[in-house]
Amino acid sequence: MRIEIPRAQAYIESLASGEALSKRKSRTFAEELGLGNICLSPAEGHLLAFLVRMHECLKFVEIGTLTGLSAQYIIEGMGGKGELWTLEKTDLHAKKAMEAIAEHPSGKNIHVIVGDARFTLESLQVSGPFDGVFIDGNKAAYGDYLMWAEKNVRPGGLIVADNVFLSGAVWGSIEGQSKNFSEKQVAVMQNFNKRLSDPTLYDSVILPTKEGMFFAVKMF
Ligand code: DHB
Ligand code: MG
Repeated sequence: MRIEIPRAQAYIESLASGEALSKRKSRTFAEELGLGNICLSPAEGHLLAFLVRMHECLKFVEIGTLTGLSAQYIIEGMGGKGELWTLEKTDLHAKKAMEAIAEHPSGKNIHVIVGDARFTLESLQVSGPFDGVFIDGNKAAYGDYLMWAEKNVRPGGLIVADNVFLSGAVWGSIEGQSKNFSEKQVAVMQNFNKRLSDPTLYDSVILPTKEGMFFAVKMF
């Protein structure tokens, strides 16, 4: 669950433009699965697309498709020329994602790959190096995803990660936690954030979205 929406974020969302049918389909599918609250908000989606566009990415990987909403923002950031590989572990989520993505004008440039990312990432290596990766999958595996990204994102490429506040668990205070995360999960995210904050490795910034979104340019 997300932490309380500050007024500024509510205002930003009120200005975000509406979503076309294929995106609304992804959002509705997520809601039907009881997962509407973990989708990117419209303003977060635009932010992701904006940075993908600014960075002129053409080959991108997403870890954690859910029902395909963020994938559509990423492909739009690449202006219809790019190619996105998006990885999803849960069959039903992937099926719903494919259904919504099929209705997007650039849907044919999105490849939904079903399976545990620990294995599917391995098989993706041959298609790399990539211009960027969006990490939004299993929160306990962010360290593994980052290790993969460090090998498979080109120097100067973009690493974006959602949920880097882990619903407030990363700052360690009880009142910040809206659900229980294991000590290991918290440590994984804290280490992930520390590494992306190392200026000898990354030029990076955390944007204070509700869940925290890291944007990092890989300098090596
Ligand atoms: C949750 C939020 C997310 O954005 C996500 O990717 C996974 C889980 C959550 O709030 O539980
Ligand atoms: Mg997320």
